[in-house]
Amino acid sequence: MAVGTGVLDVAAIRREFPIYDSHAGRPFVFLDSAASSQKPQTVLDAMDDYYATTHANVHRGVYEMAEEATARYEGARETVARFIGASRSREVVFTKNVTESLNLVASSWGGAHLRAGDVVLLTEMEHHSNLVPWLMLAEAKGLELRYLGVTDDGRLDLSDLEAKLDGARVVAVTAMSNVLGTLPPVRPIADAAHAAGAVVVVDAAQYVPHLATDVAELGADFVGFTGHKMLGPTGIGVLWGREELLDATPPFLGGGSMIRDVRLDGFTSNELPWKFEAGTPPIAEAVGLGAAVRTLERYDMRAVRAHEVAVTGYALRTLSERFGDDLVLHGPADPCARGGVLSFAFLDVHPHDLAQVLDAEGVCVRAGHHCAKPLMRRMGVGATTRASFYVYNDEADVDALAEAIEAVRRVFG
Ligand SMILES: Cc1ncc(COP(=O)(O)O)c(C=O)c1O
Repeated sequence: MAVGTGVLDVAAIRREFPIYDSHAGRPFVFLDSAASSQKPQTVLDAMDDYYATTHANVHRGVYEMAEEATARYEGARETVARFIGASRSREVVFTKNVTESLNLVASSWGGAHLRAGDVVLLTEMEHHSNLVPWLMLAEAKGLELRYLGVTDDGRLDLSDLEAKLDGARVVAVTAMSNVLGTLPPVRPIADAAHAAGAVVVVDAAQYVPHLATDVAELGADFVGFTGHKMLGPTGIGVLWGREELLDATPPFLGGGSMIRDVRLDGFTSNELPWKFEAGTPPIAEAVGLGAAVRTLERYDMRAVRAHEVAVTGYALRTLSERFGDDLVLHGPADPCARGGVLSFAFLDVHPHDLAQVLDAEGVCVRAGHHCAKPLMRRMGVGATTRASFYVYNDEADVDALAEAIEAVRRVFG
């Protein structure tokens, strides 16, 4: 039975998330934060207050309220910069989501700096967001794509890293697999990539929400993540990039705000980061993301990580002891080597059927290919069922998941 990790006060945290109140009185076990997290009242209040008291377009108005809107938007950038250890907030670009962040890098930086025959090294465990932009660029430019493989126990296969880095101009890697929970060793990969002369792009969509992040320590050149997986609203993502690389990257979208001057025969770009923020930006969403970051800072990211390791460890033990060979857990067995994402198969029940029965028991999980089709092929499956944990989950949720899997056995077994 659940004992509690003792690291985070989950009962108190849940009281901050109105979704739990709105589901009071019926079973509600939310285990799908890897797809999108729930939102605390602090985020809803910050966005409400912004709209109720301060809304105006940013970087334009000279009246006081417009200046306050700009201050809140730019304040959110400072907050995000602090959260990821960025020394300069001009290196923090607001985008729509991590998908846009990674497209920006591939299309604008890659479009300007890569030539036919150049090598881009990816991994077999990437989310489509860190694959398709490179596939598109490869098709347009004639690039060579190479892939680091995945071992049978769900780790990144680095045995041929040196050989595959030979001649590479880019290494694009996830910091945490959204399917396996695997945490590839980004720093050593980045060091080896830099030694080989490659630029390092990190998809940190599943990493930044769950582990204390310092972009300097990660050692990457570009890092993308997305607001809605870290307690923030949808519609906002982040691209952090090293200043000299962002400076050498042409604008991604053209329009208002991203220019310094426009003539009928050309334009000059604005300075960082606004060069990459064409049009009216997601102002309220940035304010919400700032509030989300402050909430995570209050929880303390080291405690968030310790809590998730404990809950994940409990889930790995509980499910394997209770279901034995009937349940296959994908990914590394050591909870310290993975994040709080648990993909599994149960008997020969299709993941969608499984998720449907779990839903009838009040347990929300994700079923499907998780936007990682090449990884599914490598694993030899078409889909998995995935439970994922965050600050508001505890061991009791794992027990509820196990009970719901018993219901699956009763229906299909
Ligand atoms: C590892 C990873 N990368 C990228 C994404 C895409 O995120 P978004 O849809 O917010 O751009 C996800 C979301 O599922 C993810 O898990």
